[in-house]
Amino acid sequence: MSKKEETVKTTKGKETTAKKATTPKPKKEPEDWIEEILPKQTKPKPKPKPKPQKTKTEDLSDIAVNQIPGVGPAVAEKLISSGYITLAAVAHASPIELAEHCEIGEQTAKRLISASRSQIGIGFQNAKELLKARNKLIKIPTGSKSLDTLLAGGIETSSLTEFSGEFRTGKTQICFQLCVMTAMEKKLGGLESGVIYIDTEGTFRPERIVQICNRFNAPTEEVLSRINVGRAYNSDHQMVLVLESPKFIKEGNVKLMIIDSLTSHFRAEFTGRGSLLERQQKLNKYLHQLLRLAEVYDIAVVATNQVLSKPDVLYGETVFPIGGHIVAHSCTTRVFLRKSKGEKRIARVIDSPHIPEIETVFMIGQDGILDVNGS
Ligand SMILES: Nc1ncnc2c1ncn2[C@@H]1O[C@H](COP(=O)(O)OP(=O)(O)OP(=O)(O)O)[C@@H](O)[C@H]1O
Ligand SMILES: [Mg+2]
Repeated sequence: MSKKEETVKTTKGKETTAKKATTPKPKKEPEDWIEEILPKQTKPKPKPKPKPQKTKTEDLSDIAVNQIPGVGPAVAEKLISSGYITLAAVAHASPIELAEHCEIGEQTAKRLISASRSQIGIGFQNAKELLKARNKLIKIPTGSKSLDTLLAGGIETSSLTEFSGEFRTGKTQICFQLCVMTAMEKKLGGLESGVIYIDTEGTFRPERIVQICNRFNAPTEEVLSRINVGRAYNSDHQMVLVLESPKFIKEGNVKLMIIDSLTSHFRAEFTGRGSLLERQQKLNKYLHQLLRLAEVYDIAVVATNQVLSKPDVLYGETVFPIGGHIVAHSCTTRVFLRKSKGEKRIARVIDSPHIPEIETVFMIGQDGILDVNGS
């Protein structure tokens, strides 16, 4: 059957469309013309949009973007496919960035942001309520009690924690341990939640996860199935993986996102003084994406960072985390690792809004991150 025949058959089936086909169509149909030929009761009434309902268990910021007033299915689809799946995600975005990521006009982006903000009520908050909210924050244990004490209970959600240090200082091993602590069952001391692991160096080793699981007698299959690994081959890919992560975060009840390492691709791709500005700008954008993810979805973001040495420094440290001021200002808590005797490592908090500059000793063993007494 030809395409032409098909159209005739389908138009025959619908009475109103068949009538329209016999009248010559004016180029632009004014509203009153439609009202003349259509009886009032047949004019389709716009369906009232369901108002976002705050239930007892659901936070308003968790409501899907298709409930923003004025958002049609096409725009909702664009938002969701670009990773903006909740009201909070849109409310925290900037118009330029939302327009760029979702391929929508800047004015539309502004309207969406302001509608989302008025829905979830972004504004001032009472410090008393903030304290209550902070007391409810989840802290992911590190496997070592002394490291947990150093970090005031563990790795906090809604924040970006950096572990930096020379090679072999235990950055990746800490990431493996945090994977197990997040994915493991609650009755074993875990969070029973999902993990997103962005591996930029090709050093993710599932067999290490299995070894660490054995320490807690945790079912390995269950733990491994909760860890989603994305191998990032360059800095652009690394950024795309972060944009794609909101879908996984919601579906997999993710509470931890790891980036091991934050800067290795940026360092390799942008060499020489001439490209330093571009590198820092891109890194800054990336860090802001990470911070927003942490806050919007209430997850812990942990990034590892390499170091560079400054041999001309006369006093104090001669090695520094890469990324300069941009990384320094963006990370919520920064932990610097260095080697000690044998398997011992020293962790020092070098920047935090609530932890003093103190240090502690931990150990790396077959069972993962341990206290120096082996527990
Ligand atoms: N199965 C294991 N049992 C005991 N210790 C291990 C095991 N696997 C690795 N390690 C220890 O972990 C150390 C490496 O730590 P890690 O991989 O975290 O380094 P890193 O800080 O990430 O280094 P890089 O900067 O090169 O990525 C090794 O020195 C080794 O002592
Ligand atoms: Mg490593």
